[in-house]
Amino acid sequence: MLDLIIHNATLPDGRQHMDVGVSAGKITTIEAALAAPAHATVDAAGQLLSPPFVDPHFHMDSTLSYGLPRVNQSGTLLEGIALWGELKPQLTQDTIVQRALAYCDWAVAKGLLAIRSHVDICDPRLLATEALLHVKQLVRPYLDLQLVAFPQDGILRSPGAVDNLKRALAMGVDVVGGIPHFERTMADGAASVKLLCELAAVQGKLVDMHCDESDDPHSRHIETLAYETQRLGLHGRVTGSHCTSMHSMDNYYVSKLLALIKEAEVSIIANPLINITLQGRHDSYPKRRGMTRVPELMEKNINVAFGHDCVMDPWYSLGSGDMLEVAHMGLHVAQMTSQAGMRQCFEAVTTNAAKLMHLPNYGLAPGCDASFVLLQARDPVEAIRLRANRLMVWKNGRLLAQSPAATATLHLPGRPTSTSFMQG
Ligand code: FE2
Repeated sequence: MLDLIIHNATLPDGRQHMDVGVSAGKITTIEAALAAPAHATVDAAGQLLSPPFVDPHFHMDSTLSYGLPRVNQSGTLLEGIALWGELKPQLTQDTIVQRALAYCDWAVAKGLLAIRSHVDICDPRLLATEALLHVKQLVRPYLDLQLVAFPQDGILRSPGAVDNLKRALAMGVDVVGGIPHFERTMADGAASVKLLCELAAVQGKLVDMHCDESDDPHSRHIETLAYETQRLGLHGRVTGSHCTSMHSMDNYYVSKLLALIKEAEVSIIANPLINITLQGRHDSYPKRRGMTRVPELMEKNINVAFGHDCVMDPWYSLGSGDMLEVAHMGLHVAQMTSQAGMRQCFEAVTTNAAKLMHLPNYGLAPGCDASFVLLQARDPVEAIRLRANRLMVWKNGRLLAQSPAATATLHLPGRPTSTSFMQG
């Protein structure tokens, strides 16, 4: 007797009329016309059943703090960092926990069940670290929260940051972070990458650094990150986040750089909503988009994912935990408008993100966790186009969230009342 069967689902790979059997929190079977007894059944009615959304780059310690203590007037990354510095002394563990839990509720409702969040460790009290480790335990039954020890003010530039970071790792933080472009010099930035990668190698941790988040075409920290990754044998365990400078780099240099990233099996995260708003701020016209070279990286079979980065914080006033909004922006900024390109944007917020986070048992296959989201869309492209409604969200076979189908009832002159689903 199965616990659950979802009938007549369309899967992201295009298979239609599939039945998904679930037992003890795992997917046991995916086949057409599954005839087995089950405690519960759901008719997917041909809609898309996807593995859950995964956000590989977020800042949960600052989320939902927009306007505190003031709004970012210039809209730049640097004013955002300064503003966060003003807010930090006012933070309490309780307010961080409450805001993070509120955000996790939004995330679950949007089918977002795994988040990698950076946590600023430059405060010697490690207030935010303690708070998010607590949140990680609280949400564990319904959301996988992976934490990155992130030296926001620079591991070398901020006094005591090396010790703080080591303490955060000892407390249970999962991943080593960094911000080489914010160190005082290019040489210090390179030294920070070396130091942090060596620390991760010794401790057996993954690495995810904010890397070259600027419009500076000469920022080269992703090169150093790829070099240290292969030197230390960290292949497949390292991620470069943002890498916006790559947008502005010389094409010849990039042709060499992509091969180094591929060789080291470094993953890249673009954050489309944030990159398109923070980059190019020093430009007049034309203004650069600033997002890293997503289709070119994918063309080289480098793992590329999209992150949300910020929701209602010193750097970004909008956002709602909707990874389809992230994919939608990424698709536009990267001009990935082919059918294949649009599907790759869907993968960037699902399977590619899960891969770099090393999430175990992720996916739609027998043996994987029975965690998925039923979308009001018939394929990944329609899901992105509509930022489709999440009809039902499951984690390990347990129903976590439901939303009513989005419809509009039309009362048009001269025509009978009708219902529109915006599914052409
Ligand atoms: Fe970030």
